[in-house]
Amino acid sequence: MKKKNLFLALLLLISFTGVTGKTISNAQIQEQKIASLLKKMTLEEKVGMLHANSKFYVDGVKRLGIPGLALSDGPHGVRAEMNLHDWNYAGWTNDSATCFPPGTALAASWNRALAYQRGIVLGEEARFRKKDVLLGPGVNIIRTPLCGRNFEYLSEDPFLVAEMAVPYIQGLQSKDVSASVKHFLANNQEDHRTSIDVSVSERALHEIYLPAFKAAVMQGGSHTVMVAYNKFRGDWCSENEFLDREILRNELGFKGILMTDWGATHSTVKAALAGLDLEMGTEKKDYNDWYFAQPLIQAVKEGKVPMAVVDEKVANILRVMLETNMLDEKLREKGKMNTPEHQKAAYQSAVEAAVLLKNQNHLLPIDFSRLKSVAIIGDNATRKHCSGGLSSEIKTIYEVTPLEAMQKKFGSKLKINFAQGYEKQSVFHDGNNSGQSNTNTVDWKLIDEAVKVASESEVAILFCGLNHDFDTESFDRQNMKLPYGQETLIQEVAKVNPRTVVVMIAGSPVELAGIVYRIPGLLWTWYGGMEAGNAAADLLSGTVNPSGKLPFTMPVSLEQSPAHALGNFPGKDGKVNYEEDILVGYRWFDTKKITPQFPFGFGLSYTTFELSAMTADQKVYQPKDLIRVKFNLKNSGSAYGAEVVQLYVGHPGSSVLRPAKELKGFDKIFLQPGETRNIEISLKASDLAYYNEAAKGWILEPGEYLLQLGTSLAEIRQTVRIVVN
Ligand code: BGC
Repeated sequence: MKKKNLFLALLLLISFTGVTGKTISNAQIQEQKIASLLKKMTLEEKVGMLHANSKFYVDGVKRLGIPGLALSDGPHGVRAEMNLHDWNYAGWTNDSATCFPPGTALAASWNRALAYQRGIVLGEEARFRKKDVLLGPGVNIIRTPLCGRNFEYLSEDPFLVAEMAVPYIQGLQSKDVSASVKHFLANNQEDHRTSIDVSVSERALHEIYLPAFKAAVMQGGSHTVMVAYNKFRGDWCSENEFLDREILRNELGFKGILMTDWGATHSTVKAALAGLDLEMGTEKKDYNDWYFAQPLIQAVKEGKVPMAVVDEKVANILRVMLETNMLDEKLREKGKMNTPEHQKAAYQSAVEAAVLLKNQNHLLPIDFSRLKSVAIIGDNATRKHCSGGLSSEIKTIYEVTPLEAMQKKFGSKLKINFAQGYEKQSVFHDGNNSGQSNTNTVDWKLIDEAVKVASESEVAILFCGLNHDFDTESFDRQNMKLPYGQETLIQEVAKVNPRTVVVMIAGSPVELAGIVYRIPGLLWTWYGGMEAGNAAADLLSGTVNPSGKLPFTMPVSLEQSPAHALGNFPGKDGKVNYEEDILVGYRWFDTKKITPQFPFGFGLSYTTFELSAMTADQKVYQPKDLIRVKFNLKNSGSAYGAEVVQLYVGHPGSSVLRPAKELKGFDKIFLQPGETRNIEISLKASDLAYYNEAAKGWILEPGEYLLQLGTSLAEIRQTVRIVVN
């Protein structure tokens, strides 16, 4: 070894060994760095790091080389640059980004690899834009079909949410950008979100509302968590000792930054002691007046908040900075923007999200080369959606609409007869939700035009559904109906053209009973992001095979769904009690034997799959064991495609109420026609436990459990009984 290299190696060795000569870990080195920086900081400098200095930025300490933090929305793309001190866009010309299909669409793909890939793309684009924290993913449970933010969230099932959120976070953070898992906790409605006080049982908290946050922190290693606007059991989430200290810090071991949602802070001392680190987004003009600014300095001076508590907060921020190489720009990911790979990822995400809900007589896929004419009908055929939804809105570099894609791909040989069909009658919130009311007027002139083009065409394709006047932050929907007279439109078109396909573009459940029996084809494509049109056209033509599955139950009507059946939405007198308890989503429908329009996990394909030979590796398991379930999956049809095999567990002999089935595993498997593969899904025996309130912990009851393998909640194809001791 050359002298210089020997010297370097020695230096390295010294820096990795403590005074005792023992090797010290990276974490210890990190903590030493943090402690040494803290020693050099004044109280004012420390507090300067604990509140924003503008809408999305936070101060650092320049003289010590500590950079400020740059944050940006949001879950499915990097939001365009906003003005520093108001909510208007800054008008940059280089901030158009890649736009992915939002949360429900991601979950509908049931593909963990896609979630990871999305994280990578978002991380690269966030770094290119010099952002340090991306405000997502949103992992709140879809409790009601009406929640305005369902489209941003993922699922009604905590396991599915967790399984998609973890790789997303890991992908994002691998690019030196911190995730901010939000909104902690129980932000399950938008109406009254800044005042509602949520009550949830301990069991529902642990079994339904907490698991995604737990996984995001403990498996995903999310660097930041955003507290919700609402109250939880009487206390604001931003100053909730139970949630923020007991659960998040002590139980989940969270060592990152706990930040507020924008304007969600309500106190200085209480919030500081409860464990909040960073105050974001209040409207007050002078940032020095914020709860975590001058008042915090004052509280420390008066002894109401110990310096150690301030140090803990600064340490949390520094730790996140070190984790993302913020103190060493040379090591930091540089990022890139709008690459062909990013756009390919957005396309794949749109394609794999689509759920084929009905396909009578194999109407789909359509061989457009054999057609002379097709009618394309509906406002959603030409509407762009990426720029809607409020904080998650994206200024995308492009967005292909379905009509554009159809014209480009098939228009040279095919006569495309477009008709508007229905018009968007709402205006995005004018302050009191009235934008959504009176939006069900049937426009017979538009319907007559649509009926005419449908009757003159061989196939009629309607692009219907919702838009971001409905699927939006800040407001819940008022009902589950298809707005703007679309139900009548679809019925009338179906009367004149037996080959009618509806492509539904929406992020939350809608009532389908009035149309589903009258049309042969129904494809649910969500908001498809920048590649929405290309994905829809390729799915309709069979260039790609639908492989998405519903991440929520599609009720026949609102009254079927638990919060509404029990009259617990949106609450009374400022309070909402989640009386349905653990029976959220399919857990309610399945346990109460209520047949929905479409069950959780449902989705068809252009090919067929056969599930067989299911086995568990043992008959009897101990609590520490891994349960390995094996089965064969065969693509028994003639098209390449993917099936999402779902593993549900039930404990019929339980001494307490358990949902009839609970999702505990899944795999998305792509197979060539005729191909068979042997697949393994494993779960821990301890995953079969329930949360016992008296014991304040998880209990695994001995007894017989059912392992059920299916292609949706309602299509269980194979069952194996096991015993847990
Ligand atoms: C939303 C957050 C968002 C923040 C910043 C809030 O209104 O609830 O999800 O990240 O605004 O735009």
